[in-house]
Amino acid sequence: MNIIEKILEKSKKIDATIILPEANIDERVYKAAKILLENNLCKLIVFGTENEFDSTFKSKNCKIIDIKSFPNLKEFANQLYELRKDKGLTRFQAKKLISQPDYFSMMLLKNKIADGVVAGASWTTANTLRPALQIIKTKPGKSIVTGAMLMFKEGKTPLLFADISLIENPTSENLAEIAISSAEFYKKFVGTPKVAMLSYSTNGSAKGELVKKVQDAVAIAKKSCNFLIDGEMQADSALDKQTAKKKGINSAVGGQANVLIFPDLNSGNIGYKLVSRLGGYTPVGPIMLNLNMPVNDLSRGCTVNEIVNTVLLTKILI
Ligand SMILES: CC(C)(COP(=O)(O)OP(=O)(O)OC[C@H]1O[C@@H](n2cnc3c(N)ncnc32)[C@H](O)[C@@H]1OP(=O)(O)O)[C@@H](O)C(=O)NCCC(=O)NCCS
Repeated sequence: MNIIEKILEKSKKIDATIILPEANIDERVYKAAKILLENNLCKLIVFGTENEFDSTFKSKNCKIIDIKSFPNLKEFANQLYELRKDKGLTRFQAKKLISQPDYFSMMLLKNKIADGVVAGASWTTANTLRPALQIIKTKPGKSIVTGAMLMFKEGKTPLLFADISLIENPTSENLAEIAISSAEFYKKFVGTPKVAMLSYSTNGSAKGELVKKVQDAVAIAKKSCNFLIDGEMQADSALDKQTAKKKGINSAVGGQANVLIFPDLNSGNIGYKLVSRLGGYTPVGPIMLNLNMPVNDLSRGCTVNEIVNTVLLTKILI
């Protein structure tokens, strides 16, 4: 069994309820929900009216909620207002937002009516993540949420790429936290993390603001954890032992990195897509790390199978 199959097998044994807020508006989510219910893989909450769903959804493992007639809607609007009034949210705005499936999902989660949310097949990443960041917030002891992608290819070491979906221009402190959080995830679910802090420079071969940002991040990360973290280094030094040696990287990370931390969102997002399209790796995720409760974002190009896997992945983060 490969690592992805192992993670998914583990997930199947976890008893959890996941919200799929787009099952009534996106055919792929509807089909994924059916697969999850038919195979007893997960309990679900979907939104809409009974007549929008077939008999598979009328089981004890699925709750269909019509947001407009949800008994606690007013209470949820009040809670949202109280949570966000200091940020300028008015009662009127809270009442309006709570009727939207994205905000309503997060309030169900916050009230522990469900254990996780998977959304974003039909709306943008920002639509899924903004309410999650505002309502669910980061775990105690963490200051940022980051999006990581597990990159898998049969016979190759599984790789974790971060940040690939959330933080446009991370500071050195942000990069250090992204590195540590990614290493924690890798250690928990895959194996011993070897973290490379990527740059266009290796070991001071170039100078400039962008290089210094990564060098500072390495120093901060090394001070705050015992994981194997090294950099700044180029991708070839991270993945090829001989190149690493030639360029003066002698640590256990050089040429053997399995957690790759990108200096910004452009490089992270472009990087995982290139490795997937040209290198034949399968991306699994994105996995949102450090949220108080699991919320995962789908790509609008996602397939039914990817939705099923994202739901299973979300369960292991509970
Ligand atoms: C997620 C995102 C929408 C949030 O930005 P925004 O809507 O402009 O809102 P703000 O920056 O005002 O942040 C909203 C709240 O989230 C918090 N937040 C933003 N990014 C955060 C992060 N990475 N970790 C933790 N909290 C975060 C802010 O502190 C703020 O909290 P507050 O309102 O309680 O003070 C934005 O970072 C974004 O669009 N990122 C890129 C996502 C994307 O398009 N990815 C595409 C590739 S898949």
